[in-house]
Amino acid sequence: MKTTMCLGILSVLGVGLFSSVAVAESLSGNPKKGEALYQQHCVGCHGTTGDGLGADIKELIVPPANFRAPKSRTRTDMELYIAIKQGVLFSPMHGWADRLSDQEIRDVLRYIRSVAPFNPVG
Ligand code: HEC
Repeated sequence: MKTTMCLGILSVLGVGLFSSVAVAESLSGNPKKGEALYQQHCVGCHGTTGDGLGADIKELIVPPANFRAPKSRTRTDMELYIAIKQGVLFSPMHGWADRLSDQEIRDVLRYIRSVAPFNPVG
């Protein structure tokens, strides 16, 4: 009598390597330099902690972004980069392309992200 043994085949496939590797893009920068730029140009509106409660916001019709809120944290680096470079339409946030170099924009972006890291789920 033949006994057929069915052995469970443990097939350990190479899964798990597909973890979504965040594309580093080319948005590397120096957060220390970014902090200095932030203190110089951005703190009056976006506040010392990035909460959008800077000292100069009383007369603004559109309040500055709170970088710590889900609305900002779910945005990608590229989206924030473009907002800094080109500004936000119909808001007091003008573009900084004429005052900051691309590298400086990346530096200040890195600083913002060090205070309020990207969080895709908010
Ligand atoms: C005059 C006030 C003011 C200044 C100065 C200012 N911002 Fe803003 N910022 C705003 C306002 C207002 C918005 C738009 C908020 C909205 O659309 O709800 C904004 C939006 C942004 C956003 C988009 C955030 C998001 O979640 O989409 C970024 C990034 C940003 N600012 C970065 C900066 C940086 C970096 C500087 C300094 C170089 C700066 N801002 C200076 C007022 C200011």
